[in-house]
Amino acid sequence: MTQSTGRLPDSSFHGYQTNFMSAPQHARLGHIPPFDTEPSSPPIYQTTAFDIADLDVLAQLHTGEAKGHIYTRDSNPNRAALAESIALLEGGEAGGTFSSGMGAIAAITMSLVKAGEHVIVGRSLYGITLKLMARMEKNFGVRVTYVDACDVTAVAAAIEPDTRMCLVETISNPLLEVVDVAALAAALGDVPLVVDSTFTTPELIRPLEQGAAIVLHSASKYLNGHGDVMLGVAAGSLAQMKMVNATAATFGQNSNPFESWLTQRGLRTLPLRMQQIVSTTNQLAAFLADHPAVNRVNHPTLPHHATHEVAARLYPNGTGGIISMELKAEGKPGVSRLMRAAADIPFSPTLADSRTTISHPATTSHGFMTRSERADLGIRDELVRLSVGLESADVLMAELDAALHASLETTSE
Ligand SMILES: Cc1ncc(COP(=O)(O)O)c(C=O)c1O
Repeated sequence: MTQSTGRLPDSSFHGYQTNFMSAPQHARLGHIPPFDTEPSSPPIYQTTAFDIADLDVLAQLHTGEAKGHIYTRDSNPNRAALAESIALLEGGEAGGTFSSGMGAIAAITMSLVKAGEHVIVGRSLYGITLKLMARMEKNFGVRVTYVDACDVTAVAAAIEPDTRMCLVETISNPLLEVVDVAALAAALGDVPLVVDSTFTTPELIRPLEQGAAIVLHSASKYLNGHGDVMLGVAAGSLAQMKMVNATAATFGQNSNPFESWLTQRGLRTLPLRMQQIVSTTNQLAAFLADHPAVNRVNHPTLPHHATHEVAARLYPNGTGGIISMELKAEGKPGVSRLMRAAADIPFSPTLADSRTTISHPATTSHGFMTRSERADLGIRDELVRLSVGLESADVLMAELDAALHASLETTSE
């Protein structure tokens, strides 16, 4: 047997350098043998950093003369691909990817607002976003005014000379109140409107086209769509996204390559998934509204909903896959009976999985509030939220019908 020199013919390929002059070193293994074909789907660049030939190349990377990535917290090919995709889908000049939806919200807020300055925030935002704002107020001296984001006059009245941002969601959780993004943007003038479009996706609304400055998503939800990612994305102008991405790189709010890759893959089926979800959701909303075990259904397609008309005007392709309903059965025991009976529709404190899931806002997203704070927002213990998935409408109706009847059966307890 001849002794290997340890030297491989093409020692540099795909950026992974191997140049064994002596015995192979375990720490240096991992050379990818050369090949002349392109991968059919994007590879994952699961690497902390990128090797740089010398200081001249480093200087060129800094000036932009050479294209490349240096350190994954700053940039990475999978993150760059996803950022570009979200900018394209939202009609922004640039995009960004973050550790989670909350990472995106934190990076945006920290970029636009300084200590002592003022922000306007929708009062029925996702519970943890409200918690973040409360923390900004307490720990960092940001002044926050909470408003009903559906009331354009109230938002305009809240503007102060140093208001640096207004943050709203396209559709509120869990009462599904639709915000008129174009009217808000017009009323805010120079104050940047930041829109969390997690519930609606660019398939249903593109807030930047309606005057918003930045749009963001918890991509852990519909954009990825398979319940296996924690990630946030945002899009906006080049200048603003540069600032937001720099904040994220400094404060470690960046997404990782693998989850960026998974989300990118999810985007490929987004239009099909959203069409199916909207169609099933609209059928379920009508079915539940007539159900004898349900007091009230919150969904913008229903004529009694507070924002039915705005929704019909702004959302020709539907308002997404979330429905909430107040059970007739009293309190949390009724909700638990429903959950136990709906075994194939799991209780899961998230939304936008490929499966339909049930959630209970009073103990999950809004669990940190007092009962009376929740009551002020219209979130009672009997309120159940459904995130409609990709199952067939008939199967879901049959399962929900049985579970709703079970919610009224108190004799077995
Ligand atoms: C509307 C909305 N925005 C932001 C978030 C936060 O996203 P993440 O859980 O990815 O941090 C959520 C999470 O449920 C959400 O529903």
